[in-house]
Amino acid sequence: MLSMIVAVAKNNVIGKDNKLIWHLPEDLKRFKNITTGKKIIMGRKTFESLGRVLPNRKHIILCNDVEMNVDNENVEILDDLKLLDKYIESDEECFVIGGATIYKLLMPFSNKLYITHINQEFEGDVYFPEIDDNEWSAIEKEKGLTNEENPYDYEYVTYIRK
Ligand SMILES: NC(=O)c1ccc[n+]([C@@H]2O[C@H](COP(=O)([O-])OP(=O)(O)OC[C@H]3O[C@@H](n4cnc5c(N)ncnc54)[C@H](OP(=O)(O)O)[C@@H]3O)[C@@H](O)[C@H]2O)c1
Repeated sequence: MLSMIVAVAKNNVIGKDNKLIWHLPEDLKRFKNITTGKKIIMGRKTFESLGRVLPNRKHIILCNDVEMNVDNENVEILDDLKLLDKYIESDEECFVIGGATIYKLLMPFSNKLYITHINQEFEGDVYFPEIDDNEWSAIEKEKGLTNEENPYDYEYVTYIRK
């Protein structure tokens, strides 16, 4: 099964110039806790924006360039969405970690969303799709820690497909 994990601004912005806009170390810590030991699925641009292979996670990268190669045993590159079927159909929870193109493509095949809602609007160039109340139920809500290092009002919300 696929789950999505993302941090989203109030106006649905998730990034700008192939980077994250905000710096929220508490949310990055949570991302690490949730995804460590799991498979993470991402688009080529998000992989480039990470700048490295994240430890203890198998990376599945979507890319149309059949020549793309990353010399790392924890990286698999797929040039066809159909090749994700085995992860969609598996009982194992695999995490879609972005970016905008991949969230939009895979939302219909996802069953769970781990959203960090940042209660502020940002200017950006990529967006998370609308979370439709008719399709998703919030099952867990937790306010994020706000302090000097994490200077935003934000909330972690987990949704499951209705
Ligand atoms: N706020 C958050 O939590 C969060 C999380 C992740 C990312 N982001 C942000 O999202 C932005 C990146 O998103 P993005 O939409 O520009 O890029 P992306 O979704 O990361 O990657 C898009 C790329 O994926 C490949 N791809 C897409 N569909 C494919 C398909 N059907 N088959 C094979 N390959 C396919 C293509 O690579 P090729 O061009 O190589 O063919 C495409 O250019 C950045 O700003 C990043 O910081 C934010």
